[in-house]
Amino acid sequence: MAKQKLGYTFLVYLVILFFFASSVSASARVAPLLQSYGNPIFGSNFHTVYDTSMYGVFQLSNGLATTPQMGWNSWNFFACNISERVVKETADALVSTGLADLGYVYVNIDDCWSAVTRNLKGQLVPDPKTFPSGIKALADYVHGKGLKLGIYSDAGSQSLQCSEPVIGIPIEKDVHIVSAGVDYLKYDNCYNLGIPPKERYPPMRDALNATGRKIFYSLCEWGVDNPALWADKVGNSWRTTDDINDSWARLKL
Ligand SMILES: *[C@@H]1O[C@H](CO)[C@@H](O)[C@H](O)[C@H]1NC(C)=O
Ligand SMILES: *[C@@H]1O[C@H](CO)[C@@H](O)[C@H](O)[C@H]1NC(C)=O
Ligand SMILES: *[C@@H]1O[C@H](CO)[C@@H](O)[C@H](O)[C@H]1NC(C)=O
Repeated sequence: MAKQKLGYTFLVYLVILFFFASSVSASARVAPLLQSYGNPIFGSNFHTVYDTSMYGVFQLSNGLATTPQMGWNSWNFFACNISERVVKETADALVSTGLADLGYVYVNIDDCWSAVTRNLKGQLVPDPKTFPSGIKALADYVHGKGLKLGIYSDAGSQSLQCSEPVIGIPIEKDVHIVSAGVDYLKYDNCYNLGIPPKERYPPMRDALNATGRKIFYSLCEWGVDNPALWADKVGNSWRTTDDINDSWARLKL
């Protein structure tokens, strides 16, 4: 019995030690973020990271992401089987189920919305079979429901999307998509040629800013090169892992 109790106490200590070690290592990773703002850990400025009156000091200052983004993204369930009908029905469902009232306002189209061939100006255009009315019309529909529309592209230096690599297209050619009334851009990491995300993601931030429209910039660089240490001034959010799915095994990654 005593032996069992000792074993139990040991286990408790082990668990405490584990949490202590993880919090120390998390602090060590966050510390460089805070160094320029005073005492790196538990200093007088530590609380300001979470202080909303300090908005813009620790994050991209485009007025967005004062709280985490909430809504729907087409990829996990539909993958490439999307259409403007799916997007419209989803917008309708967010409203009719009451989710929109709870803050789930983003309706985000993922990969496969565009035609494989670009237009004569070298711009991405919606697939005429699945998005015949175009992105502007879809944005108007979604906005009419009080929701926001998101779209997708890729930060591969010479390609545009995961489904169809397109070689040799400069980033500026993609910005027109978001100026067509879109509120959110997910920027993926396919065909990245091993170029660090720190180099590939800022140009789109600047291009989005130059449109004058407030566009949520979601970095999807798969957690490469510890985005928590540098992405705060590049995007409104960044993903920390590879794709997840609706299984506990995958969420644990
Ligand atoms: C694609 O989506 C449509 C509904 O929009 C559905 O009827 C069809 O079964 C789906 N196809 C596949 C292969 O999942
Ligand atoms: C552009 O960037 C400046 C400087 O960070 C910021 O004040 C402004 O709100 C941004 N504008 C848009 C539309 O994102
Ligand atoms: C989800 O991820 C787990 C863990 O990686 C994998 O075993 C499983 O096959 C995936 N399920 C689907 C539906 O992709």
